[in-house]
Amino acid sequence: MTAQPRVLSGIQPTADSFHIGNVLGALNQWADLQSQADCFYAVVDLHAITVAHDPAVLHQRTLTSYAQLLAVGLDSEKSTIFVQSQVPEHAQLQWVLGCITGMGEASRMTQFKDKSSKEGSGAASVGLFTYPILQAADILLYAADEVPVGEDQRQHLELSRDLAERFNTRFGQTFVVPKTRVIKGAAKILDLQDPTSKMSKSLPAGCVFLLDDPKVIAKKIKTAVTDSDMEIRYDLVNKPGVSNLLTILSAFSDLSVEECERELAGKGYGDLKGRTAEVVLAYAEQYSTRTREFLADRAELERIMLDGATKARAVAAPMLAKVYERLGFVHA
Ligand code: TRP
Repeated sequence: MTAQPRVLSGIQPTADSFHIGNVLGALNQWADLQSQADCFYAVVDLHAITVAHDPAVLHQRTLTSYAQLLAVGLDSEKSTIFVQSQVPEHAQLQWVLGCITGMGEASRMTQFKDKSSKEGSGAASVGLFTYPILQAADILLYAADEVPVGEDQRQHLELSRDLAERFNTRFGQTFVVPKTRVIKGAAKILDLQDPTSKMSKSLPAGCVFLLDDPKVIAKKIKTAVTDSDMEIRYDLVNKPGVSNLLTILSAFSDLSVEECERELAGKGYGDLKGRTAEVVLAYAEQYSTRTREFLADRAELERIMLDGATKARAVAAPMLAKVYERLGFVHA
């Protein structure tokens, strides 16, 4: 019997609710992977303080994010689901990896360039700059074979691979060099107001947050941008808005896109939006009920979290010890 591959991924607790792009683009795949891999999933709160934050809001969002991971079907018995700051080895390994990362190499990270230009040059924190090195620590600590992420994380994953190889070359075989597993398929969800860009919490008008009031969700779907002809047809290039609605309808109805097209043949965009709103609302209701249930028993939620952190540390601590030994640190 061959051992299952080790999978690791993380999500930031930087919104009051995950959105349908998170769920269809990543979290459902995380849940599916549980049957075929040894999965580690983290709420990466250390990453969430790389930009200005409010402590009370972060606290609540960390709890809510964790509850939502359970609500989408991550199973704390099968997988290791943990909060990053509860495992101190992440910050410790990040220091080590930072010492083998070149300034030039770190400066080439496009996400830092995008985010720091928004903050105004000079205003971005050093933490935002070293963000990808912390991400590499998240991955390498667990000897992850595969890291399921969106396309936008490809460059960060390349850095993780480079750092793993560099450490291994300089100090002896220590880390597994992780494979990037860019999540593909129908599940790329676009912004409802600007269907040429990806759905994102930073553009809230076109983003459906699953814990939002159902009225807000319905309104966002019903006012989605479409196009000026009247045909309900999947054509991402010429009809991105309509195609996006079909993708969402298909994903939440268990019908293929073709079946949705057929069901709506000859109907208007109002019908497409109505059907889509219906299936999203049905899912959101279940999702928010489950999330609220997990949040309602705070002691139990914190117990599950702590249990996750204990399981994570059981892997992370021996890896960090090996790294320290390789570096020549004298055993404490
Ligand atoms: N940077 C990732 C994102 O924004 C989040 C993340 C942090 C992550 N650590 C990770 C993803 C480790 C995969 C593995 O989506």
